[in-house]
Amino acid sequence: MSQLIIAIDGFSSTGKSTFAKLISKKLGIPYLDSGAMYRCVTLHSLENGIIDPVTHEIDQALLDGALAGGIAISWLPNPDTGLFDICLNGVNVEQRIRMLDVSDNVSPIATVPAVRNFVDAILHERGSQGCVMDGRDIGTAVFPDADIKIYMVADAAIRAQRRLDEMKAKGQDASFEEVLKNVQERDYIDSHREMNPLRKAVDAIELDNSHMTIDEQMIWFDGLLKGRFGDAVYASES
Ligand code: DC
Repeated sequence: MSQLIIAIDGFSSTGKSTFAKLISKKLGIPYLDSGAMYRCVTLHSLENGIIDPVTHEIDQALLDGALAGGIAISWLPNPDTGLFDICLNGVNVEQRIRMLDVSDNVSPIATVPAVRNFVDAILHERGSQGCVMDGRDIGTAVFPDADIKIYMVADAAIRAQRRLDEMKAKGQDASFEEVLKNVQERDYIDSHREMNPLRKAVDAIELDNSHMTIDEQMIWFDGLLKGRFGDAVYASES
């Protein structure tokens, strides 16, 4: 199954990355987190005065300069997770990019076409040989011919609570209201931007996991895979 491309799209905090990581382990194909790349561009923009953290106003000339050579994204294997941590200009920022200041500014940064082209080039370079990739436009724009497209949805309040629980587990502080507001604002921007907005691809299968455990989601995925490729799909597993 190494050439398989699985596209998982959906609103923020629908559990796409947890689901995608398990699929990656199960099928032995790389996991690529496209949102992490937008977050890296955002972190660099915050640290270099390219975006105003209050007004979200972007200095396009500075951003173009950064995209032309100031932002290098790479990955480091993480033995604890068995996955790869993302690095920005050589610094491991896997945790840093999940903090609220980055979450608050990432959707405006992701509306900029030059940023989308920058990220898309990396996604194509790393994902074309087979991957499970999550994001907002993977099945519609990045890999429109993906073998499997899943569109994940969940109630906004449930998503905000999940994000808050994750943040608290990492010792980060925020109120439910703050996180819900961030989730709703990102939903709006992500689905209303001009270039490649979040949409369900016509051939995507919807998964509403508002009231599903991750085990139930994996059972659902097994059914989907077997329905598509038959029992032979896991024939090479021991
Ligand atoms: O999945 P995430 O919450 O880490 O994504 C962060 C932001 O990046 C999200 O609010 C919108 C943007 N994004 C995007 O525009 N397109 C993608 N394929 C992935 C993420």
